[in-house]
Amino acid sequence: MLLPNQSVSPGGRLVVGGCDTVELATRFGTPLYVLDEEMIRASCRSYRQAFEGKVPSYEIAYASKALMIKALCKVMEQEQMALDVASEGELFTALEAGFPPERIKLHGNFKKAALLRMALDNGIGRVVVDSLPELDLLSSIATDMGKTADILIRITPGVKADTHERIRTGQEDSKFGLGLIGGIALTATRKALELPSIDLHGFHCHIGSQMLHTDGFRRAASVVMEFIAHVAAETGYVAEQFDIGGGLGIRYTHDDVPPTVDKLADEICTALGAAAEEHNIPLPELILEPGRSIVGEAGVTLYTIGVVKEIPGIRTYVSVDGGLSDNPRPCLYDAEYEALIANRADQRPDTVVRVAGAHCETDTLIPELALAAPRPGDILAVQATGAYNYAMASNYNRFPRPAVVLVNDGRADIVVEREPLADLVRLDVVPQRLQ
Ligand code: LLP
Repeated sequence: MLLPNQSVSPGGRLVVGGCDTVELATRFGTPLYVLDEEMIRASCRSYRQAFEGKVPSYEIAYASKALMIKALCKVMEQEQMALDVASEGELFTALEAGFPPERIKLHGNFKKAALLRMALDNGIGRVVVDSLPELDLLSSIATDMGKTADILIRITPGVKADTHERIRTGQEDSKFGLGLIGGIALTATRKALELPSIDLHGFHCHIGSQMLHTDGFRRAASVVMEFIAHVAAETGYVAEQFDIGGGLGIRYTHDDVPPTVDKLADEICTALGAAAEEHNIPLPELILEPGRSIVGEAGVTLYTIGVVKEIPGIRTYVSVDGGLSDNPRPCLYDAEYEALIANRADQRPDTVVRVAGAHCETDTLIPELALAAPRPGDILAVQATGAYNYAMASNYNRFPRPAVVLVNDGRADIVVEREPLADLVRLDVVPQRLQ
């Protein structure tokens, strides 16, 4: 499977962002994450264009958990995106990159006091409050600091997303958000309206990730709009913003057919319009927080094939020089990927193999895949690894994390250096008594 931004050179090599991937592998080493800048920019624009004119006002906030690096913050800033962060480290990275703090939203089901202080201190745009204790804590911290916290309240809409159960977050039985059951979300709203130093701007929900249908978005839109109407009737407060989260799926394999961003926009905006009319409330500003669909398909991981082991009558294993530590998704979510031999991208994939990583456990990257007669030394390109791969990379087996290269129009720039071996021991301390 070739993605729309990819081609094959006359010499039969996979080309991404105008760069020959085999040359990239030689120049930067493997494993290597390759990111296509133009494709990322195009995804940002497709979101903006899709919602333009369909709602009076909207904002697209890139969910940086999918891939958070300073260079990407620059791209997001240039593409007029806002940014969603969910930890101290993500917030720190955004601030270090000089991302405008007023366009940052802070998420998380457990934000420590220090993180809330850091957010207020840096004037970030919104804190998305996830629980009643957090609301109290934020109010008292903001009061102490003589600041006002601009917030959204995260609602658990009770919508079960059609996706892998480990990436579902909208059902009532979730650690995230304030439930509609028992009036908890309404209690939080009343409280937010009363507490000092809190300025409530509206509501948020996020029901799940890698969704290949728009149903969940539609249901979430109507549930939250109904809640907004209920709040207006009970308290007189009219929400000015509704953040419907992220979650649009991408194409990992040829079987995945995600809805287009245009279709997503049509469905969400129609549901919002219908609910606004039904409940006779004004349309709030709509916010979206896509992560995976901004960067996922723009990424390719290049590996070097080391060992090709044929077990007669059973199968052929192809081992590559990375795996679990640069892509834990197959192990965590049974995630499926496709790949091709980058140096023979023009040849028919006629050999069925299992692609295994190099870590000391099963470490299956792709259980069954046809490749063009793989040989040691070949470069394997695994598709659609831009989201939640580098972001979730670890040092398991003390593998250094790979470099990340940004390609654009034949140019390749390092945006994350390969982790040096020395860094693996940099934080190790051998106490005096063991010397
Ligand atoms: N907003 C919130 C509040 C979220 O929790 C998430 C993702 C997003 C936005 C972005 O969702 P996206 O558009 O990327 O689907 N590690 C998992 C994915 C976890 C997603 C967590 N939240 C994976 O590799 O599939």
